[in-house]
Amino acid sequence: MCVQPQPILQREILTPLTDWFHAASRDLPWRRDRSPWHVWVSEIMLQQTQVNTVIPYYETFMARFPSCQDLAAAHLDDILKLWEGLGYYSRAKNLWRGANYVVNHHDGTVPDTYEELIKIPGIGDYTAGAILSFAFDAPFPAVDGNVVRVIARLTNSPWTQGNAKDKQCARSYVQNLLDHCPDQASLINEGLIELGALICRPKVPECGRCPLHQNCSALIEGTAEELPLPKKSKKRPVEDLTILVVRDNLSGRYPVRRRAPDGLLGGLWEFPYLDGHRSGEEVAVLLEDYGYETLDLRPLQPRRHIFSHLEWNMVGWAVSVKSMSLTDDPSSLIAPIIDGQELADHGIQYDDADYSFLTDPKDMDLIWVDAKELYEKAMATAIAHFRDEAIGNI
Ligand code: ADE
Repeated sequence: MCVQPQPILQREILTPLTDWFHAASRDLPWRRDRSPWHVWVSEIMLQQTQVNTVIPYYETFMARFPSCQDLAAAHLDDILKLWEGLGYYSRAKNLWRGANYVVNHHDGTVPDTYEELIKIPGIGDYTAGAILSFAFDAPFPAVDGNVVRVIARLTNSPWTQGNAKDKQCARSYVQNLLDHCPDQASLINEGLIELGALICRPKVPECGRCPLHQNCSALIEGTAEELPLPKKSKKRPVEDLTILVVRDNLSGRYPVRRRAPDGLLGGLWEFPYLDGHRSGEEVAVLLEDYGYETLDLRPLQPRRHIFSHLEWNMVGWAVSVKSMSLTDDPSSLIAPIIDGQELADHGIQYDDADYSFLTDPKDMDLIWVDAKELYEKAMATAIAHFRDEAIGNI
């Protein structure tokens, strides 16, 4: 059974909350235009990302794609390029899929019912509730991690971060508040989100400044800082990788490839990489095996990148190479790195066990681009650091 607010508590919570929101809420760009499209884009960007990081991305994105139709008509590559650095790139793809869905099924008008919204790719309970309440002032809860924390403390409930059942309890608590005051759905939902962001913060809640402090059970019991309970941390697997920023000395081009469309960093561009941490000598031997003489080899600063379920522990090399082209055809310089079969055809031994990036059939996607083209391609921040260090910002 989920804890529910007492009727008297509803009065004691709602007025202080909405008064506080009017007085203390931040002037954020997505609060100036509450069209469903603006709400949709901002709420997707705000998932797992700090407000200050989102602001410039949101402004650029809305200037470029002021309507759902504009995004639907855009090329996914251009969208990913604008999203570069914001992380969690599947959000951008889903937004694009969602915009196409709305164009195809609703003539480009974002629907105003829960049943229709929830069918749109990339829209779940939270985003549907945010669109319905912020854009249409309809009494649907929008409960994210911030709000779960606020309600867990208000009710002193021993909820665990990320627990679906606990979140459902928080939703039904908020639904109860909204039912009590259905014409203030937007204010109540955003008030709770804002309270979680500014006052009822995860580590150091500022209970002395909280408009709800008189009714906060966790404050009374002294448990505010402990709630919600942390989820048991699973150890993330760590992958060691060697990133190669290879520059063909003659053409000034770099080999890059696009990652598979689905999965981690799907559709983004990357440099070839090797499993494990490879020495400069190993890299030079590898490149020689594939027809490239190493002219210069420079280590790049090692970097770690933490994903939600995985960690990359990367070293990198900036390598300048000269093609020992097997043919006189200059176009071979811009062809994918010579594959194993081609080497075999020329009587050259190769061992593909170690160097999967050169022999894997999917690497036929490898293309060689100049620096300008390279910077036009969307790369994850994790990889773009190696690009910037090897080439410099152009
Ligand atoms: N986090 C999630 N949604 C938000 C919003 N609308 N304003 C500020 N922070 C948020």
